[in-house]
Amino acid sequence: MVSLISFYGSRGLKLVKGEGQYVWDSEGRRYLDAHTGHGAAFLGHRPPRVVKAIQDQMSSIMVVTPSFVSESMERCLSSLGLVLPNGLNHVYFQNSGTEAVELALKLAFKATGRKGVVAFMGSFHGRTLGSLSATWNPKYRKGYPLVDVRFGRFNDSSSADLIDEEVAAVIVEPIQGEGGVRPTTPEFLRALREACEEHGSVLIFDEVQSGFGRTGEVWAHRTRGVDPDVMTAGKSMGGGFPVSMVAAREWVIESLKGGEHGSTHGGNPLACAAVYGGVSTLLEDDVPSRAAKMGNALIKGLKGIESRLIRDVRGEGLMIGVELRADVGPVLKRLQQRGILALRAGKAVLRLLPPYLITEEDVSRIVEEVESALIHEIGSR
Ligand SMILES: Cc1ncc(COP(=O)(O)O)c(C=O)c1O
Repeated sequence: MVSLISFYGSRGLKLVKGEGQYVWDSEGRRYLDAHTGHGAAFLGHRPPRVVKAIQDQMSSIMVVTPSFVSESMERCLSSLGLVLPNGLNHVYFQNSGTEAVELALKLAFKATGRKGVVAFMGSFHGRTLGSLSATWNPKYRKGYPLVDVRFGRFNDSSSADLIDEEVAAVIVEPIQGEGGVRPTTPEFLRALREACEEHGSVLIFDEVQSGFGRTGEVWAHRTRGVDPDVMTAGKSMGGGFPVSMVAAREWVIESLKGGEHGSTHGGNPLACAAVYGGVSTLLEDDVPSRAAKMGNALIKGLKGIESRLIRDVRGEGLMIGVELRADVGPVLKRLQQRGILALRAGKAVLRLLPPYLITEEDVSRIVEEVESALIHEIGSR
């Protein structure tokens, strides 16, 4: 009998179907999904344009590497041209967020000829050795040989003092996800931008979780008025299909030569079709506006809960954290029993990452169930 290594604790559910904002278990119970596979199903489960694009692609060709031209890649690149930030027009596809971060760091090392990296307390950038090096949580890092990274205080502009002539890359999430749903301030990002310019370092925005419409903007950094040199994206950009991307400025890739990076499946035609379907959904359904509207309603509802157990409610669009004065475990369990899936960010933050498709009724239901979980599971207002 082969078994899966249990890196994740089991939620005790077998999920057999997903459609829109819902998933169903093997007993036929329906759940409102604010977990969305760590945010990957933000466009809803089985988004129709993505499903169609993948199905169409499957009927012609499923494997083409970037050594050859593929129609699927051409379509994907031209659709990305409609949503990528200005100047970030050199892209490469990977399969997961962590791989995109690896490539972003590699590009910075090559572009600067330096080895230093600055990241921030509370950060999460992935689990492979380079991205793990830039990930803050000591529990994830322990026992592995890592790249040397200096960690600055998050949202503290004086952290820019860590950036000097040895620093190749400064990597930051515009909104920390795993670290507790913590939005950056524009001043903080501006200080990093200025120091990167002064010292010739590459500023990387990791939008793997915050990007692709979730925060009410296509890219969360847009509202901060600060632009990166490199951006990573993943999770929802393929509508649930595993695909990620690095987008870089010209100066960052200028010194690259052939053969310095590669990926067997990166930019696979199915993945490119999925991204094309994802971008079409984003634009045609005006996903960011919907996320902003529903996110505001959800944040307002959650802020209206009167409970001394709630320390803070924060977030942007549909990337929301409710920080408790207690372990979030019992709340998650109760929500699941009541038909809502959510996730945690650390010990005390209830993280809600629902799809843009949620309705006002869904919003009210989440608010009611969170309130009742606080009363029933933690037993106090
Ligand atoms: C900001 C950020 N970067 C990178 C990653 C890693 O992505 P993946 O799990 O697809 O490797 C994550 C995953 O949660 C993330 O939130």
